[in-house]
Parts: sequence; C-alpha cells; structure tokens
Amino acid sequence: SDQSEFDTDVWTLTRFIMETGRQAKGSTGELTQLINSLLTAIKAISSAVRKAGLVHLQGLAGSVNVTGDDVKKLDVLSNTLVINLLRASYTTCCLVSEENETLIVTPKEKRGKYVVCFDPLDGSSNIDCLASIGTIFAIYKRTSEGEPTVQDALQPGSQIVCAGYALYGSATLVALSTGAGLNFFMLDPAIGEFILTERNVKIKPKGKIYSLNEGYAKYFHPSINEYLNHKKYPEDGSAPYGARYVGSMVSDIHRTIAYGGIFMYPANEKSPKGKLRLLYECNPIAFLIEQAGGLATTGTQRILDVQPESLHQRVPFVVGSPDDVAEYLSFVK
Ligand code: AHM
Ligand code: MG
Repeated sequence: SDQSEFDTDVWTLTRFIMETGRQAKGSTGELTQLINSLLTAIKAISSAVRKAGLVHLQGLAGSVNVTGDDVKKLDVLSNTLVINLLRASYTTCCLVSEENETLIVTPKEKRGKYVVCFDPLDGSSNIDCLASIGTIFAIYKRTSEGEPTVQDALQPGSQIVCAGYALYGSATLVALSTGAGLNFFMLDPAIGEFILTERNVKIKPKGKIYSLNEGYAKYFHPSINEYLNHKKYPEDGSAPYGARYVGSMVSDIHRTIAYGGIFMYPANEKSPKGKLRLLYECNPIAFLIEQAGGLATTGTQRILDVQPESLHQRVPFVVGSPDDVAEYLSFVK
C-alpha cells in the first residue's frame, strides 16, 4: 500500500515548542509543559464540540437517552477542562477565565511561574447553530513573589510570553506565537497531534473585507459610520469592500488574518467600552495580529499598551491589515 503521504519527520506543535524552548537561554521546559497541557484540553474541547450535536440526538449515541439537561454545557465543560489540565501541569500560579468572576489561584503544591488568561469557549452563542467557535489564551510570567494576587494578572499585553487561539471550524486549528512570528497548526485526528501547516504567517497590508456587527450602527459614533460609508461607497471609484461577520471572534479573526481586512467591535452608546474583554479576548488576538504584521487598537491606543485595571474589563477593539486599521484611525481620530 502507498505510505508516501506519511511525513516521517513531522513538525508537531509540541516539537516546535520544544525546539524554540531549547534555543532560548535559561529555558527550563516549564512553558513547553504548560502548552502541552493546554493542548490536551484543546483536543478534548474539540472532541466535545464535534460530539455536541450528536449527543443531543436522543438514542443516536447508543442506548441511553440523553436529554439536553443531562448534557453538561459545552462552555462549562471547556472551562473545567482548561482549569484542571493547567493545574495538573504544575506550571501556573493563577488563572483568569471568562467563566470565573474572581482570580483562580493554583493550589500551593501545584504552583509554577506562569499566569494564564483564557476564554475557554468564545462565541458560545454560536454553539446551537453549529457555527465555528474557539478558545483564546494569553500566557504571562508572574512578576511578584508570595501569594498570587489579581495584580499578577493585570499585566499589559506587551508582556505576553505566548498567546494563541484554537478554532473549531471545518478543521481544528491552533494559531500560536511565542513572540517570534505567528504559526498555524492543524489537528490531525488520526494521530491526535497539531501539525505545523503554516510558518511565519503574515497578514496582507490591505484587505477587501470589513467585519463588524453593523446592526448597532444607530448607536455608533458618527465617525465610525462615516468610515463604513467610505467602505461601501468609495469616493475614488475603487470597488467597495465585502462584508463578513460570523459573530464568533475567533472565526472572524482567523478569516481576517488569512484573507486580510479589518475586524471591529467599537464602542457604542449601549456599550461605551465595546463588548470584548481585554485580558483574554483582545490582548491575545492583538499579540497574534501584531506578530503577523497587523495592527490592533482601541481607536486611541495600541491594545497591547493598555494598562489593565480589572480582570474582566472591556475595550473597544479594532484589528487587521495595517493599511485598513490606519485608514479607520484616520476617520475616528
Ligand atoms: P462571548 O464571550 O459571550 O461568546 O461573546 C464574545 C463574542 C465574540 O466571539 C464576538 O466577536 C462577539 O461576541 C459578538 O457580539 P455581538 O453579538 O454583539 O456582535
Ligand atoms: Mg468570550
């Protein structure tokens, strides 16, 4: 039989991280261990996401009738998976999750030097319609000694050591950066490993797509609507931009990185700081976009420079191709 499709020197995500770790001075392997545990959680979430539809179909999965109520909600399950696996990695001192109001402090005997901020299952309003959802995370080194406190987690995004997202789309993909470029890895379910599929990904300088919830236009600042009008009715005779909005940030961001363009969740009258959360939604995505050569701004400030004040704070969020974001800024500034 033909075995030629097997890559016998395959670059898995684990190998990639190990290799980068080896090259870093004073590396202890702790980050590799952390990422490995996180990847296990991501693989389990991926499997749970793919089974979710089936589980709801009574009887199909076997002899037991499973009702909706018996099925653990996917976002709760994802959160528990990430917390348990990170704890078991002995590499973290505290965690911030979208699902937990307060700081999650690692039990003393299991502590390590990292802080992880994550959204275990972003876009969860998309679960029931089977659209793509994702997991987002940012990893920091703690800066203090002693008992971990909220302060350890309130670091600006510029201090990120490693960030990434998992997209549970038509395939499961992980986008990851340790600050030396952005790389994509695709889950090969046959071997349960993430395989490096795109190295040093770069975003186009300018795209052809704008992405936001334009249904809120009534509540936008007039300058934002001016910008949007400019995209729809270009004065210079160029073609108008296409519009795409899944409403699941990881999908919208992944498309923006893959095809170029701009993604926005600006402030509006109803949500004066927008909707998206700085620590575990905006910062990790901003870090990845910058690694790909793009820009990420609140409209007045670089996202990664924002000094966080609370765990769940929101910020207006505009990211994408550098020329598109610069053009947006020229309208709103
Ligand atoms: P969630 O964390 O409750 O899932 O909300 C975050 C999601 C993002 O994935 C997406 O960009 C945004 O909410 C969509 O919000 P809206 O429905 O207001 O357009
Ligand atoms: Mg979220």
